[in-house]
Amino acid sequence: MALSFVLPALRPKEYNETMQTILIAGCGYVGTTLALRLSRAGHQVWAIRRNTAALPDGIHPIQADLLNLESLRPLPAYFDFVFYTAGAASFDETAYRSAYVDGLWNVLETLEVEGRRPQRVFFTSSTGVYHQNQGEWLEETSPTTPDRFSGQCLLEGEELLQGSMFAGTVVRLGGIYGPGRTRLLDLVRAGQAECVKSRTTYLNLIHRDDAAGILEHLMNLDHPEELYLGVDHEPVERCTLLRWMAAKLRLPAPRMVHEQEQHEPQRGGNRRFLNTRIKKTGYSFQYPTYREGYRELL
Ligand SMILES: NC(=O)c1ccc[n+]([C@@H]2O[C@H](COP(=O)([O-])OP(=O)(O)OC[C@H]3O[C@@H](n4cnc5c(N)ncnc54)[C@H](OP(=O)(O)O)[C@@H]3O)[C@@H](O)[C@H]2O)c1
Repeated sequence: MALSFVLPALRPKEYNETMQTILIAGCGYVGTTLALRLSRAGHQVWAIRRNTAALPDGIHPIQADLLNLESLRPLPAYFDFVFYTAGAASFDETAYRSAYVDGLWNVLETLEVEGRRPQRVFFTSSTGVYHQNQGEWLEETSPTTPDRFSGQCLLEGEELLQGSMFAGTVVRLGGIYGPGRTRLLDLVRAGQAECVKSRTTYLNLIHRDDAAGILEHLMNLDHPEELYLGVDHEPVERCTLLRWMAAKLRLPAPRMVHEQEQHEPQRGGNRRFLNTRIKKTGYSFQYPTYREGYRELL
């Protein structure tokens, strides 16, 4: 990271004490929900994405490409907090490295060179950094030695942030669902959901509104820790969830298939995550389990 010879930007006089100025870099599904929450709470929110037309009113757009350093400059004069919530466009190494390493590096570099000194930078990582697959219960301190590019790139991004000059907090989110993100429900509705015989896959889910809610809550803490898991209270076995959905929709239960017969490749692994640390901060989940979350989406 380049040395900065620029004086840190000072909080402008006209800002009142409670209003924070916030940058959300890669402002998509979760980022936009967070932006709206923060804006409604009276904060000033700036959002970076390429397609700024997709941003709601009231959010200050910054049309830029996180992979193009020049397009990120100049940044607005002052930030209290920065959230990096960009996601990979596809499941391949180039897309992952771009989203979680290169783009983050560009944002940190720009903040540093332009003399922006946010109190904290938040980075949305993923439970995909864990390698365990034997039904273990895991928490923040569990070992992470991912054997795939996806987890490796995310971990590299986390290390980049924690090695930077900024105070950083990483939130490792589970599988995000919510309005417009109903892939499993859609499969059940279409009669295409499948349960694979003799395979256990746990889903560690988080509703979109809780993903954003956790980020907002952590921003409001005086001394958040460097790492949190962002998952709800109850990991659910994939087939249990599919059957629950089918029952609620009064549809036939999903077909049982052998591994080699399945049509839809299944993500997720055989491990369960504890959310003790985020609960201890006093965060109260709007959707504590898949039941409350999906009930609204049925
Ligand atoms: N989805 C999940 O289940 C899941 C699970 C664990 C963790 N996470 C993490 O949680 C975070 C939020 O996920 P999400 O689902 O809200 O992501 P998302 O909807 O894909 O949003 C990411 C946004 O980043 C913007 N973006 C991507 N590349 C960019 C670039 N080069 N320059 C500028 N903007 C760029 C995109 O907008 P434009 O295309 O307009 O630029 C997009 O709207 C991500 O970090 C993701 O990896 C997600």
